[in-house]
Amino acid sequence: MKAYIYDNVEGDQRLPHHDPSLPELSTDQLSAYGLLYQHIPIDTDQNWEQAIDLLAQERSYKNRDIIDISKESMGDQYEAKLKIFFHEHLHEDEEIRYILKGAGYFDIREPSSDQWIRISVTSGDLLVLPAGIYHRFTLDEGNYIRAMRLFKDEPKWTPYNRSTDTDANPHRVAYLESLRPTVSAQ
Ligand code: LAC
Ligand code: NI
Repeated sequence: MKAYIYDNVEGDQRLPHHDPSLPELSTDQLSAYGLLYQHIPIDTDQNWEQAIDLLAQERSYKNRDIIDISKESMGDQYEAKLKIFFHEHLHEDEEIRYILKGAGYFDIREPSSDQWIRISVTSGDLLVLPAGIYHRFTLDEGNYIRAMRLFKDEPKWTPYNRSTDTDANPHRVAYLESLRPTVSAQ
């Protein structure tokens, strides 16, 4: 995992968009935005599965599935899906992803500056995005990711694209409220 300010340069979304002169963010800095990051290495003796089971138990994640994002696995839907994933949106639930193979980028909006923060993830990375955070996702130049998606309740992943309506969504408002003490303390 590496997190940094997105360079905002025009061009392929799959490129790193990493300008080394811009700051990188630590796991602690990410947690100030309500993000949870953990690394659980994928090992051959399947200890990672136990670690995920434990986490799921502790945080009441009842359901899970595995998604493969690649041209081969998605066929005709591939380009359309990638577009949906990269359109800025929020969810009314946490977005929980554990990367099994491949790589990708989650971009999250820094709420006070509205800058993108790019989070580069590879196998073993677990990311929990809080409900109400504006974000988007893209594959990198490897064009492949396999991720486990965990859900608190029934699997659903409705994206609400950013608009004045989502700005007023109770989950968005609650998210911003949850940041207040951290933001004003800086
Ligand atoms: C999702 C990612 C793409 O909503 O943000 O599944
Ligand atoms: Ni999403």
